[in-house]
Order: sequence, then structure tokens, then C-alpha cells
Amino acid sequence: MTLIVPLSERSESSLDRYVINGRTPICGVIDIHGAKNAALPIVAACLLTDQAVLLRNIPPLSDIGVMQAILHSLGVNSEWQAGELRIHPNVVNSHVIPESLMQEMRSSVIIVGPLLARYGRVSASYPGGCAIGERPIDLHIKGLCALGAKVVDEGGGCLTFSASKLRGARVHLETPSVGATENIMMAACLAEGETLIENAAREPEVLDLQNFLNALGAKVSGAGQNTIHIAGVSALKGAEYTIISDRIVAGTYLLAALMTEGRITLTSVIAEDLRPLLSRMSDMGADIAVADNAVTLSMRGRPRAVEEVRTMPHPGFPTDLQAPMLAALCLAEGKSVLTETMFESRFKHVEELKRMGAQIAVEGRKAIISGIERFSGATVRATDLRAGAALTLAGLAASGTTVVEDVYHIDRGYVALDQSLTRLGGRVVRKR
Ligand code: EPZ
Repeated sequence: MTLIVPLSERSESSLDRYVINGRTPICGVIDIHGAKNAALPIVAACLLTDQAVLLRNIPPLSDIGVMQAILHSLGVNSEWQAGELRIHPNVVNSHVIPESLMQEMRSSVIIVGPLLARYGRVSASYPGGCAIGERPIDLHIKGLCALGAKVVDEGGGCLTFSASKLRGARVHLETPSVGATENIMMAACLAEGETLIENAAREPEVLDLQNFLNALGAKVSGAGQNTIHIAGVSALKGAEYTIISDRIVAGTYLLAALMTEGRITLTSVIAEDLRPLLSRMSDMGADIAVADNAVTLSMRGRPRAVEEVRTMPHPGFPTDLQAPMLAALCLAEGKSVLTETMFESRFKHVEELKRMGAQIAVEGRKAIISGIERFSGATVRATDLRAGAALTLAGLAASGTTVVEDVYHIDRGYVALDQSLTRLGGRVVRKR
């Protein structure tokens, strides 16, 4: 098995930091890599078939390396080479998801649905909370139980799911959870009968999962809308599939150009998926042009403030761009309000931005931002991957030198962010 990111490399990089010299515009063209949040459920979904699968446009991200390691621990080998991941799910010889890997990546809970459908039994530990919030899995559990799974709390944070045969059901999600929608979709593919998921998540990555499942021979429809329909089948086949590009990475680069009076063109993007962000950046004064699979943004002068940005489930403003957008609003002329409705503690980057001169007051779920002319370089710490990206953007726009510590967080969702920004005119050096 050739690992996407060797485990040794992940531990070694834990001391790495970015040293950024700011005040150069971000200009140029960048091709946006595959989507982490599309790749993770799709790699997990390979457990639903015993035939070989070839996935293209798979980015070498540490989170996908963790998902690959989980499959390997279940007996499923895979090889990653130059963006292609070949998976051999012919043998699954364990139902126990290693606790260390569950803890390393909370979203590995999306392995439970496909493994339960394939193997009939799964032991997994509660993924637990993380830097952005509690991350409960009650909707995952309720959805799988609706399909006939039995769940036993073994104590010590370990749950065992079992199901001799899953049966289709009508499932209503109180919250349009992305992970719960994906888990139920995957389990329902091999259930007996029809499943309806109501109030389903509408994220583009859920639609990408539907398209992949149907490439395997599943019968899924409605993804991207409120209700998803799955007609269970007895078995699935192999497939070759190319995943979509990463809209959050795309938005991060657009905001980098907006914050540095730059001009950037992104290729291999789905502009429709970026609309919630593009409209707000136009409000902030950016000139934006959209072609088939490319978006160009240019920015002159300081951004304008916006009255309020609220993070919402898609097609609302994505919570994963909240931190980078907050960094941009720190430079806007005037006062802006940013409300984080999705996660209860996703403002850990605020204190770090304030060390760079930002004027932000947090009141519960709201951040009230009074714009400043420019950031001042400082030493700051990444607390999660999106906060790390936001601090890197702030460093690009800051006078003097900024050091971002714990950049291993950023490796979870951005391929070589430092090198890409340097190619685009930034001065970002990764140091151990
Ligand atoms: C996915 O996480 C993404 N991760 C997250 O991206 C993203 O922030 C999130 O969706 C929201 O868009 C992946 O796709 C791998 P949710 P997920 O279940 O599925 C509550 C990043 O930076 N909830 O849609 O875990 C939950 O507490 C990451 O790339 C329950 O109450 O998110 C939250 O408030 C961070 N019970 C809300 O739903 C549950 O059983 C949305 O969470 C599940 C979720």
C-alpha cells in the first residue's frame, strides 16, 4: 500500500510553521485540487463493493491519508499515485475502526454506514469533540437505526452497530447534517427497499457522492435538494470516478487576492458552488468574472464592510469559509457582523487575529468587526485547518513578518498552501 501521506511525515511536520512577509499582491492562475470533503465519503463508500475502484483528482491531504489507513486496518489495500487512488475492497476482514484513527479525524464516522452495510457489524469509538465544537453523532445513529441497525454502547466511548439486513426507511434529519446524510445514503444503497432522507444536506459534496454511488450501480436521486431517494440493490460493481474540485480551497485563494489587492484566476472550479461566496465578495467591492470552469477576481483598494454574513447549510454561506472571510472583513472599511450558526466554538482564530491588530468583539455566535487599515505581523497559532488558512491570509496582508505555528492543521485540507501562495506572488516559507 502506498500511503497518500506517510504517517511518519505527518508526525514530523507537527513542528512546522509558516514565515510570511506580507504586503505583496496575490496574482496569477491556480488550478484547484480535488475536494477533501468529497474524497472522504467517496473513499469510505468503496467499502460497499468488492470490485476494484479507481478514483481520480484525489489530493494528497493528511485527512485522506487517515481514511486510507482506516481502510487498510479493515483489510482493504490501496495505492495512491499522482492524484489517483486505486482501492481493492475485495477483502474486508475486520469490523473494528481503530480508535486512534477515529480520534485523529472526527469525520471518519462516515465509515460506519458503508462498513455496516458490507460487513453487518461495526465497532467504533465516539469521535469526540474538536477545536470547532462538540461534533455529536446522534443523527448518524438515529438514521442507521431507522434502517434497522442495533447500537450497543460498550462503555469507554465505544459503540457497536449490528444489522443482519438493513431495510429501507423514511428518515427525517432535524439538522441537515452533511455526514449523517452521507452515512445514511451509503448504508441505504445495500438496504432492502426504498429509503427517503428528508431535510438532507444539499452540499455539492453530497451530490458528488450520489454520482459516485450511481457509478457503482446504486440507485440514488435527489442529492442537492431537500429529499434524497435511494432504492436498495443487492450488490455494487467497481468504477472509475473523478471527484469535484474543492470549493473551500477555491474560496480561500479568492479571499487571498481580495485581501492583497491582487488578481487571480482559478481553473477547474464549479462556479455555481461558489455563488454564496462570490456574491459577498462582490458586495465587498471585488470585480468577479465567471467562465465555464474558471473564476477571475481582481481587487483595488480596501474591501467594503458587509452588514452581516451568517454561516448556513448550503446554499448558504459555508462555515468552512467563515474564518478566511472574517480575516478579510478585518480589513474592510466600516463595521461588519459575522454570525457562526453551525458550530458553537469556531471563533478560536479571533484572538490570534487580534494579536495582529484586528478589532473584533465576540458576543456568543456573533463576531462584530471594526475594520482596520492593515494587519501588523505577529506570531500566531493555527487551531484548526480553516483558522490556519485565515491566519496565513492575514499574514499575506500584514506589514512586517508573521509566523503561523502548527501549520500541520493546514495540511489536512490544503495541498502545499505555502508553495501555491509563493507561486502567486506571496512570500511564504515553511520552516521546521
Ligand atoms: C462536514 O462536517 C464537513 N466535513 C465540515 O468541514 C463542515 O464544516 C460541515 O460538514 C458543515 O458544512 C466533511 O465533510 C468531512 P455536519 P460534518 O454534520 O458532517 C450538528 C472542514 O473544515 N450535528 O453537517 O461533521 C453539528 O454539531 C470541515 O473541512 C448534530 O447535531 O458536519 C453541527 O452543528 C470542518 N448531530 C451541524 O450539525 C449529528 O449527528 C452541522 O454538522 C451530526 C451533526
